[in-house]
Amino acid sequence: MRTPFVAGNWKMNCTRREAERLAGELVKQIGSLDAIDVALCPPYTAIETVRRVISGSRLHLGAQDLHWERKGAFTGEVSAEMLRDAECELVIIGHSERRQFFGETDESVNRKLKAAAAAGLGAIMCIGETLAERESGRTLEVVERQLRDGLDGAGHERLTIAYEPVWAIGTGKVATPEQAQEVHAFIRRWLRDRYGEAADRMRIQYGGSVKPDNVDGLMAQPDIDGSLVGGASLQPESFCGIVRGSVRMK
Ligand code: PGA
Repeated sequence: MRTPFVAGNWKMNCTRREAERLAGELVKQIGSLDAIDVALCPPYTAIETVRRVISGSRLHLGAQDLHWERKGAFTGEVSAEMLRDAECELVIIGHSERRQFFGETDESVNRKLKAAAAAGLGAIMCIGETLAERESGRTLEVVERQLRDGLDGAGHERLTIAYEPVWAIGTGKVATPEQAQEVHAFIRRWLRDRYGEAADRMRIQYGGSVKPDNVDGLMAQPDIDGSLVGGASLQPESFCGIVRGSVRMK
């Protein structure tokens, strides 16, 4: 019922030349797969380069953040409209690195989600608990708050949720498939209460140290519909391995 969805979050990596090489290799290896949706989210400066390289392939283009205002005196920021103009189809919102280092809150996530929706951009909304929160047994409470406050008054059109336990991001410590499934099932129930049957069509990605050798176990879980990939998205072999594994397991 749900097409698997894998997105590569390149974070603050890739000059235009590096982006061209990486995207070119991905087009060659996975650019025509049709049983899966794959998106690349380069840094702003490489968006146009990646757009050009993936044009005509089945790969989708995304950005890593946006500002909620349409335009104006917001030095350093980029709006949803600008991303649409750059031909992005989607945007990552509320990544834990933005929450941790750049003051992102559930309230700013909420504004950004509404701005993305108003501009017709898809969104990947990131949520997830820290190690301290997990160890004190507050995982579901934190995830519930992030969903409730982040999605307050926001629609579900073209919305993907990425569950990313903060302790698993960039650490090599992946959540076990069972740990991830428990939270994904909780998120699905929450979405069902909120959006009804539409929740069965919404995709929930897992993120945090996803690699070709752990993707099968994750994708075997009923409520894991794909992944948001950081480190491994910068290597064509590992990213393509994750994509192929995701197709194979669904
Ligand atoms: P990682 O990052 O795959 O390097 O753990 C995931 C993410 O931050 O989205």
